Amino acid sequence: MKKSTSAPVISLRGLTKRYGIGDAEQTVLDGIDLEIKKGEFIAIMGPSGCGKTTLLNVLGLLDKPDSGEYQLDGKNVERLTSAKRAEIRSGRIGFVFQSFNLVPRLSVIENVALPLAYTGTSHVKSLKKASAMLGTFHLNEREYYMPWQLSGGQTQRVAIARALVNDPSIILADEPTGNLDSKSSHVILEELSDIHRRGNTIIMVTHNPDMTTYADRVITMLDGRIDTDTKTTIVQNTRSVTSKKVSLGSRTKPTAKKSKKEKK
Ligand SMILES: Nc1ncnc2c1ncn2[C@@H]1O[C@H](COP(=O)(O)OP(=O)(O)O)[C@@H](O)[C@H]1O
Ligand SMILES: [Mg+2]
Repeated sequence: MKKSTSAPVISLRGLTKRYGIGDAEQTVLDGIDLEIKKGEFIAIMGPSGCGKTTLLNVLGLLDKPDSGEYQLDGKNVERLTSAKRAEIRSGRIGFVFQSFNLVPRLSVIENVALPLAYTGTSHVKSLKKASAMLGTFHLNEREYYMPWQLSGGQTQRVAIARALVNDPSIILADEPTGNLDSKSSHVILEELSDIHRRGNTIIMVTHNPDMTTYADRVITMLDGRIDTDTKTTIVQNTRSVTSKKVSLGSRTKPTAKKSKKEKK
């Protein structure tokens, strides 16, 4: 696989996706061209129904486009078998779903261990990894809680812990601060920023303009197309939130933060 930093990790050409048939047919992604480099932190905005979740699902190999090209690490992936897609997903991609999608009948720790079930990791080892990941989110005391016993912010952090447990290099987050208050939202974004500073690629859908200040590129969508695509510089973090450092093992230390936001 290509690992060069200049080569795009994700490349889309004329990507289209339609839903429905006949009169009900709707073009949800309408010829998307997009290149994403390794280590970018991208925020995607746009009105409800413009195709943001569909785009993330295609990027995360949960859904197939109808036409167009999708290259991941320089390889075409749009026509792979579902087994091969699942393999790539479990090795490379972490998902934070819009609705969190915790499995209600599984405890917190079992939810977090879930992505490892597809990687051949033993159950005991999976639980150990899940526990370590929950620790970085200060959730060890909640390991054996059931999802319904958690607050909104805790549920969110469990969902993020689960997305990270397989050490993915691409994180796809669909409105990860959806129903959270401002302070909890910034805590979540600080966590994502840490992961970004460790060299991972983050693609985050958000409806909150405040949250785009964490991104170095902001894309807006309209009617299944990319409307604007703006490179920014991440705002110096002067926020007074309790910024918890998520230390993810052997990854490199965060680099110096960039200066004030400015449009290029
Ligand atoms: N599985 C599906 N079947 C049919 N229509 C869908 C499906 N998923 C999404 N859509 C439609 O595609 C459009 C875009 O949806 P979505 O990607 O969820 O938008 P967004 O995340 O920007 O709100 C919407 O009109 C939605 O109703
Ligand atoms: Mg959506």
